[in-house]
Amino acid sequence: MKLSIIGSGYVGLVTGTCLAEAGHTVICVDNNQAKVKELQAGRIPIYEPGLEELIRRNVQLKRLSFTVSTKEAVEKSEVIFIAVPTPPQEDGSVDLSYVEHVAREIAEVLPEYRIIVDKSTVPVKTGEHVTETIRRYCRKGVEFDVVSNPEFLREGSAVADLQKPDRIVIGVASDRPVAAMKAIYEPFKAPIMITNLNSAELIKHAANSFLALKITYINLVAAVCEASQADVTQVAEGMGSDARIGRAFLNAGLGYGGSCFPKDVSAFIRIAEELGVDFGLMREVEKINASIPERFLKKLRSSLWVMRDKKVGQLGLAFKANTDDVRSSVAIELAKRMAAEGAILRCHDPKGGEKARELLPAGVEIVSDAHQVAEGADVLIVATEWPEYRLLDWHKIKNSMRTPRIFDGRNLLNPAEMKSLGFEYTSVGR
Ligand code: UGA
Repeated sequence: MKLSIIGSGYVGLVTGTCLAEAGHTVICVDNNQAKVKELQAGRIPIYEPGLEELIRRNVQLKRLSFTVSTKEAVEKSEVIFIAVPTPPQEDGSVDLSYVEHVAREIAEVLPEYRIIVDKSTVPVKTGEHVTETIRRYCRKGVEFDVVSNPEFLREGSAVADLQKPDRIVIGVASDRPVAAMKAIYEPFKAPIMITNLNSAELIKHAANSFLALKITYINLVAAVCEASQADVTQVAEGMGSDARIGRAFLNAGLGYGGSCFPKDVSAFIRIAEELGVDFGLMREVEKINASIPERFLKKLRSSLWVMRDKKVGQLGLAFKANTDDVRSSVAIELAKRMAAEGAILRCHDPKGGEKARELLPAGVEIVSDAHQVAEGADVLIVATEWPEYRLLDWHKIKNSMRTPRIFDGRNLLNPAEMKSLGFEYTSVGR
């Protein structure tokens, strides 16, 4: 089918690429001319495993192209996806101005019947507003349908998530767009759920909030484990092997971060509030999650005694492994707080170092070899769970440190192994 994606950010670019890979002809639109030029030249603005090869392949096959022109995209496509940012506003509610702007732009150039699909994470009832906006701004009275098709991909495994989704949610207000939407996703061989428009929108916020709740729950269980000499990894295994609970998203650590969960949890609280529902449960989740880095720092301070002038080596800056994304990263927050308390920081991240530079105080050093962070350090912090950190030369690291202490905020390393190497090793909830 002929498709276009308005907004070539994370979700837009990965979605467009995977839809092209599935055999559709896809035009990706972005209003940032420089970005479009880069993409046309084969340069990818984000790191996502497998994405670059897929983009290159599909551009060569002429199934994937990039433009700044919404008009061209709308004219040439049967289905138009909206994948623009929906950033948080100061009060936690969602800024829908990009979605509204794109809806107007589409309306003004609609040549004939089109399906307009919202992929951005939006509050329930946005589809109704988009429908109303297009109706108002489309002078020619052309017919159209608005569909909600939320995206569940995770950064770091976006391509795999998109190609093998657990389910595809399609929210519609009439039957007319259903066949086309099913045809788009047919190659993915995944269960398709047809819902009404509002339910589809709600599924996304409810799912992300639930996952954030699950992480917060295990982080509190970890605190109980610490106080009772239990091991949170074993508790999570035991809980998670109950099929009703599941092991996923029960990894205790530094709390959830990134550009989705924090934003979506506070949006969901505001959305419920506006609908007259007090979602105090999620307010508590927000509060607990915000307190986790401090709990970690407290343990660190009790080992270092004085933070000022201590040499801290930090492994990891990205908000999670396999991504260069450092937005709302707890690892960045930790580094900033330790630097503010006078620690001398040396950090490493396999992919996120460059992007982190802009967010970290000037005195924080970023090095390209992970082993370097340990040289002369009083303590080593594991702040992002990059699997390759497990394979570092820990013997060499131990010998290069001033005092061999590890604070593993992600439970990445094996406690028994670290202790047998001679480290003083502290992790979360075990
Ligand atoms: C999340 C959801 O998992 C996706 O399904 C969703 O599509 C996406 O948000 C979105 O709304 O766009 P993402 O933010 O990329 O994906 O990353 P996650 O893997 O969900 O991790 C989020 C945060 O939770 C990270 O800081 C991670 O370190 C933390 N986390 C995750 C834990 O602390 N423990 C866990 O067990 C799992």
